[in-house]
Amino acid sequence: MKICILNGSPRLNGNTAELLKPFLEELAAVGAETTLYTLASMHVAPCKGCYHCQDIQDEYGCFQQDDMHKIAKAMQESDLIVLATPIYTWFCTSELKAVLDRMFGLAKYYRTAKGNLVEGKRIAILATHGYDAAYAADPFVIGIQRMCEHYHLQYDGMFSVRDVDDIASFQTKQATSGARDFARYLLQKKA
Ligand SMILES: Cc1cc2nc3c(=O)[nH]c(=O)nc-3n(C[C@H](O)[C@H](O)[C@H](O)COP(=O)(O)O)c2cc1C
Repeated sequence: MKICILNGSPRLNGNTAELLKPFLEELAAVGAETTLYTLASMHVAPCKGCYHCQDIQDEYGCFQQDDMHKIAKAMQESDLIVLATPIYTWFCTSELKAVLDRMFGLAKYYRTAKGNLVEGKRIAILATHGYDAAYAADPFVIGIQRMCEHYHLQYDGMFSVRDVDDIASFQTKQATSGARDFARYLLQKKA
């Protein structure tokens, strides 16, 4: 199984990166083919809303030449896309939001081009947040579920851990074994 993981945290060694460690270790242990994209080290500009991509048939087609082309290619080649993010203002970080908006070119619904380049892909969330899980992450989960309906993706669920003591919160047995369990769950889950 090919898995594309996007880390949207601006903190390279922050809580989300810490929670990703056991998750990635577990995926590696079973030989899953994973690629991790650390968005804070890449450049993905915001969507310009020009709809140029909607006239480009059979390819991603955004006119902005930045790292989104690499990510869009990885998404098309993956079975599963994992959105790893701290919750920022009841949604994901702006780094990840730019990627979600720029996915627009992957489905041609609005102009002369036709087709969906990500039809049937699976999506999962790995999140960290300060408030309790439901209060913090429900709006983001609902947004991603709606996005999955729109793009015809399969939503595979979320694992999240609350930040109560900065990095230490993500090093507890509960956090690390939860991240490992979620990795195993995603591996055995069918499309
Ligand atoms: C700008 C900003 C906005 C945040 N907004 C929220 C929020 O809406 N809900 C929440 O539960 N936590 C919020 N947090 C807390 C972070 O989600 C939490 O500390 C997270 O673990 C940080 O992960 P990181 O170290 O990977 O960046 C916010 C933190 C920052 C810096």
